[in-house]
Amino acid sequence: LQALAAFPIGAAVTNNDNSNFNIVTNTSEQAVVEKHFGEMTAGNIMKMSYLQPGNGNFSFTNADTFVDYAKDNNINVHGHALVWHSDYQVPGFMKNWSGSAADFIAEVEDHVTQVVTHFKAKGNVVSWDVVNEALNDGNPSNFRTTDSTFYVKSGNSSVYIEKAFQAARAADPSATLYYNDYNIDQNNAKTTKLIEMITDFQTREIPIDGVGFQMHVFMDYPSIASISAAMKKVVDKGLKVKITELDVAVNNPYSGGWPGNKITSFTNTVALAQQKRYCEIVKAYMDTVPAAQRGGISVWGTTDANTWLTTATAAYNGEAIAWPLLFDNNYNDKPALRGFADGL
Ligand code: XIL
Repeated sequence: LQALAAFPIGAAVTNNDNSNFNIVTNTSEQAVVEKHFGEMTAGNIMKMSYLQPGNGNFSFTNADTFVDYAKDNNINVHGHALVWHSDYQVPGFMKNWSGSAADFIAEVEDHVTQVVTHFKAKGNVVSWDVVNEALNDGNPSNFRTTDSTFYVKSGNSSVYIEKAFQAARAADPSATLYYNDYNIDQNNAKTTKLIEMITDFQTREIPIDGVGFQMHVFMDYPSIASISAAMKKVVDKGLKVKITELDVAVNNPYSGGWPGNKITSFTNTVALAQQKRYCEIVKAYMDTVPAAQRGGISVWGTTDANTWLTTATAAYNGEAIAWPLLFDNNYNDKPALRGFADGL
């Protein structure tokens, strides 16, 4: 895949929490990554709770192994994620913070500074998801509030977002800095809030280079028109667009179609429909985002066996019925790979 594109084509290649899930030990995984991808994202091990489990106690060993493997194979790394509210991946000392808001914000800045500085020295960590999922999905005209440690401990304020971006820019002026989120391709009010934040940042000269669209999508949802329209809004702000976590689940457990019409085996018909869907998404990206603003496209995992969906998404109830990725359980190409390539 990478050979077909003039921008990064990546994959998340760690899956289990705080482990170098197969990339360092699994030669099948390595073969697929080295053949098709020019960039890797750590599925978990570069998140806050793993890099700074205790206040001031940084732990870089697993992430270093990951980044060094990439470097040895001329693969860049998209850093993920400096600041994310998701409960068990926030360090305990931050969750339980009882000091002042000003001191908490200083801790967030310190985390960003230390982590970005550490990985800048490697030379192949070229971009960061600086803040992940800070916008509210249920009440999308706002930032995430009570369900975010960062918002609450910053004194019920979203100021931590801009502080994180400023600290990241200061620590590595050459890294591309992204704000990353989900459903911004389909939730109009959330996208509007995103654009409002970008406009505000640009007015006040808060550094931000691009928006990461996670894109954990389904076969029929969201529509290509919706995806394109949302990306166009970011393009019009002059920022880069990066698809950061693409996967296309063949069952949609949130809609009426499932479990009623649950697909229980990955037939050729399903595989070809998924091929078409991958092609349309990649093509929409190519058509909507001008070359200079393409931050790249990354899939969230390599094989269907290591997708996060079956284990991490409550809606899937632990059932292995998503088949969302480009390679099957045995590391063989799926038609989806051809669809992705044809879209480029
Ligand atoms: C997921 C990992 O894939 C899982 O292994 C982990 O248990 C939870 O986090 N959006 C993101 C990613 O930005 O960090 C999430 O990764 C998937 C959703």
